[in-house]
Amino acid sequence: MNCLEIQDMHKAFGGIQALDTCSLSVTQGTITGLIGPNGSGKTTLFNIITGYERADSGQVRFQAQDITNKAPDTIFRLGIGRTFQLTRIFPRLTVLENMHVAVQRTDLRGMFRWWSASHERQRALELLEFVGLHTLKDLPAGNLSFGQRKLLEFAFILIAEPQVILLDEPAGGVNPTMVNYLADRIRTLNQRGVTFLIVEHNMEFVMELCHRVTVMHRGTSIAEGTPAEVRANPDVLQAYLGD
Ligand SMILES: Nc1ncnc2c1ncn2[C@@H]1O[C@H](COP(=O)(O)OP(=O)(O)O)[C@@H](O)[C@H]1O
Ligand SMILES: [Mg+2]
Repeated sequence: MNCLEIQDMHKAFGGIQALDTCSLSVTQGTITGLIGPNGSGKTTLFNIITGYERADSGQVRFQAQDITNKAPDTIFRLGIGRTFQLTRIFPRLTVLENMHVAVQRTDLRGMFRWWSASHERQRALELLEFVGLHTLKDLPAGNLSFGQRKLLEFAFILIAEPQVILLDEPAGGVNPTMVNYLADRIRTLNQRGVTFLIVEHNMEFVMELCHRVTVMHRGTSIAEGTPAEVRANPDVLQAYLGD
């Protein structure tokens, strides 16, 4: 079953056609990779799926429901979580305080209003443990390495227990040990039923982690298949060499 379907998506910024008749689907329960040269429209697609940009035309369906151009908080509460290419944390607050801020920030229409303070703290600590940051909980978040900040942001979105998680370049600028750790956390969540759509330039990461890979080029998807199929596809090589 497809849990996420993009159909005939178009999006222009002035004269730049960032998405041009772009269609793709993500099968429930998979880790799906989204690759393609710089500027091929991957982040724009994420922004449209999650409501941060408006589609010019085309449709986004989540669990068979049309969610095109809905507000970001609505989409988040429906069960789609995402991280951003650059992390967004408050450096002077502690790691744990950042988790509380994330709860407040996501509490756009009372999603977590029923949580008691102790429940919230418990949940925040569990998630910090899951991403391996619990021993750093009382440090200012500004002291975290870039990779640790990405793990913290990953913990933020887990608060809402999303069914689908979109990650934009999670391994970018992160050291290899941390990349392996992140891959392990993604696999663990996937085994618990979470579906992933991941934009990533680190091919080793994509090829080892993803069940399916979609390739974007000039605003449209040009290939889809298993990592091995995509790697062997001459159109894919051409897309990368041509740009
Ligand atoms: N807010 C924006 N304003 C103007 N142009 C944009 C904006 N966002 C993206 N673009 C352009 O759209 C194209 C696709 O960008 P993007 O989706 O960021 O690609 P990718 O994530 O695959 O590198 C690029 O040409 C980029 O410069
Ligand atoms: Mg991008």
